[in-house]
Amino acid sequence: MAHIIRPSFLAAAVGVVVLLSPLAAAQLKTDYYASICPNLEAIIQSSVKQSMAQSQIAGPAALRLFFHDCAVRGCDASIMIVNSNGDDDWHNPDNQSLKPDGFQAILDAKAAVDSDPQCRYKVSCADVLALAAREAVSQSGGPYYEVELGRYDGRISTKTSVVLPHTDFNLDQLNAFFSGLGLSQTDMIALSGAHTLGAADCPSFQSRIGTDPSMDSAFAGQLQSTCAGQTFAFLDAMTPASFDNSYYRNLQTGRGLLGSDQVLYTDQRSRGTVNYYAANQGTFFYDFTNAMTKLGRVGVKTAANGEIRRDCQTPN
Ligand code: HEM
Repeated sequence: MAHIIRPSFLAAAVGVVVLLSPLAAAQLKTDYYASICPNLEAIIQSSVKQSMAQSQIAGPAALRLFFHDCAVRGCDASIMIVNSNGDDDWHNPDNQSLKPDGFQAILDAKAAVDSDPQCRYKVSCADVLALAAREAVSQSGGPYYEVELGRYDGRISTKTSVVLPHTDFNLDQLNAFFSGLGLSQTDMIALSGAHTLGAADCPSFQSRIGTDPSMDSAFAGQLQSTCAGQTFAFLDAMTPASFDNSYYRNLQTGRGLLGSDQVLYTDQRSRGTVNYYAANQGTFFYDFTNAMTKLGRVGVKTAANGEIRRDCQTPN
């Protein structure tokens, strides 16, 4: 769970600065696979559609995977690696709440790509992740955006190198983390809008109930009874399966689920952007697309330091 290990945000900022790699990012192109695997986008679109039809959480879980991949050692699909000795990104407590349905959606999409003889073993797991994240967004009613491609997969995944933001981060801590990835406060607020989809386990927010004055009291009461009967609550209770701007409208009424969501409205320095997105869904979509593209450039690997992994769970 995200609340168990809490490295200092200074360590977080220092740790991720090394991920910025503008030269590698420059190689990314939206038509990278145009001649290598011309049907790539259609294959992934249909595979993710099937995964989302089978499981309601496949889409949100795949979108979250993309963030947890890019934020740690760059967008290199290291989050997918399973090491038999248990020393991999996934075994870090911060990654334990990633849902199996998200991993399965990526494995299924990669299998679908590799079943096309022209594409077999030519598309990286990192690119499959980036495209699946876009599909999760657009097939839930969010923006359809061009995805930059051409990432190589990394070979390393370790438990101890995982540094991610936590639900008790204040605005300065959130900004420090995202600026380490080359992302601005506006990017961070737009990306947090991904919490318009999916759910959080009760331990991720329960400590706020009855103690956090920024939480609406009626909402706190609802959450209390939700967690008495089940293990999770939706991040956006208004429209949990629709990618829309109601996440920001929830924040305006004290109905943000995580502390790191609600603080974006509580803090005067970010409230204006929240209000703007709450009133302008089109601008939220535009900024979200932009920020996802920037996130997708973090720590990109090349043929020199990466590979096209055949099995997303095992380096070649
Ligand atoms: C700003 C800092 C962030 C924090 C502190 C944070 C934390 C969390 C936590 C604690 C959960 C619930 C996990 C659980 O209990 O099951 C969650 C879920 C989720 N997060 Fe974030 N997150 C952040 C940013 C992001 C970003 C940038 C994205 C994607 C662009 C993202 C996408 C998601 C999605 C889609 C879910 C729902 C997953 C599901 O239903 O399986 N988050 N996040």
